[in-house]
Amino acid sequence: MSAPPLTRGLLGTGDPSLAAHLATHGPLPHDGDPAAVAGELTGRGGAGFPTARKLQAVAEAARAARVPAVVVGNGGEGEPASAKDATLLARSPHLVLDGLQLAARAVGADTVVLAAGHPQLGGLDRALAERGDRGRVRLVGLPDRFLAGEESALVSAVDGGPPLPRGKVPPVRHRGVQGRPTLVQNVETLARLALLARGDAAAGHTLVTRHTAGRVDVAEVPLGARLVNVLPLDPGTRALLVGGYHGSWLPTAVAADLTLERSGLASVGASLGAGVLAALPADRCGLRETAAVVGYLAAQSAGQCGPCLNGLPRIAAALELLARPGPRPPGLLADLERWAGLVVGRGACTHPDGSVRLVASALRVFTPELAEHAAGRCTAVPGVPAFLPVPGGAR
Ligand SMILES: Cc1cc2nc3c(=O)[nH]c(=O)nc-3n(C[C@H](O)[C@H](O)[C@H](O)COP(=O)(O)O)c2cc1C
Ligand code: SF4
Repeated sequence: MSAPPLTRGLLGTGDPSLAAHLATHGPLPHDGDPAAVAGELTGRGGAGFPTARKLQAVAEAARAARVPAVVVGNGGEGEPASAKDATLLARSPHLVLDGLQLAARAVGADTVVLAAGHPQLGGLDRALAERGDRGRVRLVGLPDRFLAGEESALVSAVDGGPPLPRGKVPPVRHRGVQGRPTLVQNVETLARLALLARGDAAAGHTLVTRHTAGRVDVAEVPLGARLVNVLPLDPGTRALLVGGYHGSWLPTAVAADLTLERSGLASVGASLGAGVLAALPADRCGLRETAAVVGYLAAQSAGQCGPCLNGLPRIAAALELLARPGPRPPGLLADLERWAGLVVGRGACTHPDGSVRLVASALRVFTPELAEHAAGRCTAVPGVPAFLPVPGGAR
């Protein structure tokens, strides 16, 4: 499948002003059903849920509860390897604000919130002032934490509570902000909705954050493109990380045959997640990189549930030992695999599941490195800096 061309992209000209926005995109049409224009659009916050179905579900929940819904734009981007939402908010804030307006219309919301990292708030406040929407859209600053963008954590933060997941039941579409039916939609999804309302083929493209040796950038690419055309691979690329820190490592040979769309990625156990693509350079160690990331993930939960309290710290410690060349306790690898299996499906949110997905893929893809480490050697160049970003520098 190859996507139709996009006439106007999401990343704009780099001028975030309302004048530049209107010159590029024109005004937002006032008629039309936003749920209908959403069409095939799927969420870009990670899970890829169909947007039209979500808009309809929240509208129905609000009608049934006889209260106006709440709409929250999710720009928290807790994933350290992702930069697409911050880039979008900095370059095209008015597309996101247009999308919020459409979503509010679709679900019958009287309260509209845009949650984002603190560095983004100044630019968003200026954009709201430009369009006379200060006071109509509430800006909420989120801490730079992995879990802050999970939808129930986001709802808690918007209500003035801790930015931590509260669990899946009841779903936020029934009881979210102030106990009201709430639509949480990623900011890229909202911006795509704003392009779709203007007749653009926005559903067939996606933002990705690309990590290669010495370079990190954000690009808008067609879904259905060959992965190697989206992320050029050096001959020495050891493996690819697809989907971010809840994603999966793939061997380079497998990645070379893949197209960037959900069913193809699912067939090799991967998902696009929030669009992170990283090509591990030849001089780095995939086990070392994964151990650092999993140490960070384990430290991110508040340990409210068993899998995060007991499971993830143990898993992170075992992985840390496996990532070091030299002798290891007997049975450590088998223990790690067993612990990883035990946490799946046991948390109030999917943080443990996503974290062990990454671990399991690393153990599959970096089997040669495991053997090298057991023999006291590492294939990485000594002293080479970390490849994947880990806040706090956990190494
Ligand atoms: C641990 C965790 C962290 C998440 N972080 C984010 C995030 O930073 N930004 C985001 O948009 N969605 C994040 N999500 C997904 C949200 O819960 C939610 O599904 C999403 O914002 C819905 O928007 P969408 O349908 O437009 O994708 C996260 C989910 C989990 C489980
Ligand atoms: S599973 Fe982990 S991250 Fe999710 S709510 Fe429970 S303790 Fe928090």
